[in-house]
Amino acid sequence: MYRILQNFIYLLPLILFLACASEKQDVETRNMDRFIDNLMKEMTLEEKIGQLTLYSSFMDETGPFMNEDYLDYIRVGRVGAVFNAYTTEYTREIQRIAVEETRLGIPLLFGYDVIHGHRTIFPMPIGETATWDLEMIEQSARYAAQEATAEGLNWTFSPMIDVTRDPRWGRIAESSGEDPLLASLVGRAKIRGYQGDDLSQPNTMLATAKHFAAYGFPQAGRDYHTVDISELTLRNVVLPAFKAAAEEGVATYMTSFNDLFGVPASGSNFLLNEVLRNEWGFDGFVVTDYTSINEMVPHGFARDDKHAGELAINAGVDMDMQGSVYHDYLEELVDDGKVNEETIEKAVRRILTLKYKLGLFEDPYRYNDKDREETMIMTLEIMDFARDFARKSVVLLKNEENTLPLSDDVRSLALIGPMADNQRDMIGSWSAAGDYAKSVTLRKGLENRLGTNARINYAQGTTVNGTDRSGFSQAIAAARNSDAVIMALGEEYWQSGEAASRSDISLPGVQEELFDEIIKLGKPVVVIIMSGRPLTIGNVDEKADAILYAWYLGTTTGDALADVMFGDYNPAAKLPVTFPRNVGQIPIFYYAKNTGRPESEIKFTSKYLDVPNTPLYPFGYGLSYTTFGYSDITLSSDQLPMDGELKATLSVTNTGDRFGEEVVQFYTRQLVGSVTRPLKELKNFQKIGLEPGETKEVVFTISAADLAFYNAQNELKAEPGAFHLFIGASSADVKKAAFTLLSK
Ligand code: GLC
Repeated sequence: MYRILQNFIYLLPLILFLACASEKQDVETRNMDRFIDNLMKEMTLEEKIGQLTLYSSFMDETGPFMNEDYLDYIRVGRVGAVFNAYTTEYTREIQRIAVEETRLGIPLLFGYDVIHGHRTIFPMPIGETATWDLEMIEQSARYAAQEATAEGLNWTFSPMIDVTRDPRWGRIAESSGEDPLLASLVGRAKIRGYQGDDLSQPNTMLATAKHFAAYGFPQAGRDYHTVDISELTLRNVVLPAFKAAAEEGVATYMTSFNDLFGVPASGSNFLLNEVLRNEWGFDGFVVTDYTSINEMVPHGFARDDKHAGELAINAGVDMDMQGSVYHDYLEELVDDGKVNEETIEKAVRRILTLKYKLGLFEDPYRYNDKDREETMIMTLEIMDFARDFARKSVVLLKNEENTLPLSDDVRSLALIGPMADNQRDMIGSWSAAGDYAKSVTLRKGLENRLGTNARINYAQGTTVNGTDRSGFSQAIAAARNSDAVIMALGEEYWQSGEAASRSDISLPGVQEELFDEIIKLGKPVVVIIMSGRPLTIGNVDEKADAILYAWYLGTTTGDALADVMFGDYNPAAKLPVTFPRNVGQIPIFYYAKNTGRPESEIKFTSKYLDVPNTPLYPFGYGLSYTTFGYSDITLSSDQLPMDGELKATLSVTNTGDRFGEEVVQFYTRQLVGSVTRPLKELKNFQKIGLEPGETKEVVFTISAADLAFYNAQNELKAEPGAFHLFIGASSADVKKAAFTLLSK
């Protein structure tokens, strides 16, 4: 008894603190609810509907335009939010109209696609993910929020957490690739970075989990195309990242353009009310993607815009992006008895709640701080981070005979290709307010690194697209007169991203012809590929001495690449997506199933006649300038109780001559299930740094919860039975061990 009393006294201060904090929170919530209740009592139905309307301004174009005079709509209180508007001055003027010229003065939200940076552009998200560095990914979002909020923005349409296994689909560039866990962890990191732990801070902003849901599975990789997947795939592959976003406290969701189970996402009661709100308890608001309510008419799911508006509001869509459907028809729908005013009021409350949490009612101009705009953007700190983040995104795919890193003694370098001295493509698609005129090209980065110590013989050689061969001879001459050759090839920024699917994902134009001509000279050739997607680069892979996959690295591209090429940074990035040998293999991904006739030399097994089943490069693959050795795995037990945990341990040694980082990956396989199960599933990873000769022990802990999946009855459960676990340098280069999950 005395001991209990002693512990209680010891813990009393903490108990009192928590009780006070909780009481303070309750008081703040009660104050907010009271404020919103009173405001809503003042609002007309037209003003309520105004809060559900989002219009685009004219500083960026991210879709078809639907209206020209949204400022007048603001004046009469019929707009709740604006996107594609930034800078302190411009947003202050628009906010002033809302606050000072409308009857109730309700402040606006200002949204924008801050996807991989705002002014300082970081690598494309698929490149950011290749770092497997969640802290850096979170920090990049924090810097993006710092810059965006300094220019009047308080809402970003990011993170994009669509899992996809189809590089024909251009928006793979904005994604975190094929893996549900990686997409979940990256999404959480970005939400933390954007929203921080206090939305009322002037350097934090609302995040958006998009595109809800399954947008990354369009038929034939064609953007906006039909999605037809099973609920097993939806629950086990697509939804985990969106559920993680809800758990992380994301403020908003954006519905996707596609239909799912025959229902367009913006009209899907299943997705929005059943899953998002009822199953996951999400209490923020749902905005549509650009005019996707209207698009339920061409989908053949709504008779006309008015019918589409009825379907959307009753399915759980709170805000209409650019479609003017709520603006034009909701009042009529209420009069017709098709929509309850209570449904509208729920949506209004969700939106007003987030405006309150941002502090906009307290100070509508809190994001219009000229001093922040002048001091918080493209700072040295952010630029240094951007360069470090960019070089950590570069994947070393091939490095024969240690062609890389280049020696500082090099006297002459040929720099050839259409991506070598090109500023616009460096910042990729969805580059927001990024100014490409400030991006560092590869050519500039090499000049910065080499100074006058080496001659750079530059020749563009050809264009990215088209059949211009007139520059071949100059490029060949440059190569002849150089010790080594660097070729910078790829796609233009607009060839991935939205509305940018390709049926052929090889290098465009005549770039491969140029490459073949240069290869004939017998010089060491380093190829750098810049693209928003995996390309089919089998020919380059066969003949080049070294290959760096650079995605689009953003503002600091050239300096980051120079750091990697001369070994100032030893590359450690790993592929977040499988690279197919050819487009015919797509979809190809590491968590495939075994099938009843797994590939073998026997004819009647699952394989192609013309290409192996294996990819060109597997998920999780990436080389280093050093090498790593992996010991066998030791298990704490080969039996895992349903309520217990098991440790898998192995040692990793740096067997080379320079410091290097390694992303040690941990996968499992359930050998037999109530439904067929994948050959591997990523369950965890650790990024470790090792000095030459250094060995580190890496321990992964696993429990039944890590093995749970949605079964055919939509139950999230782990099933007892035999499992394999794998630890290694990629999904295809692993050590293996076996264990049994016990029934209790
Ligand atoms: C676009 C994109 C979406 C973006 C929105 C606003 O169509 O699909 O990702 O956030 O419109 O620009």
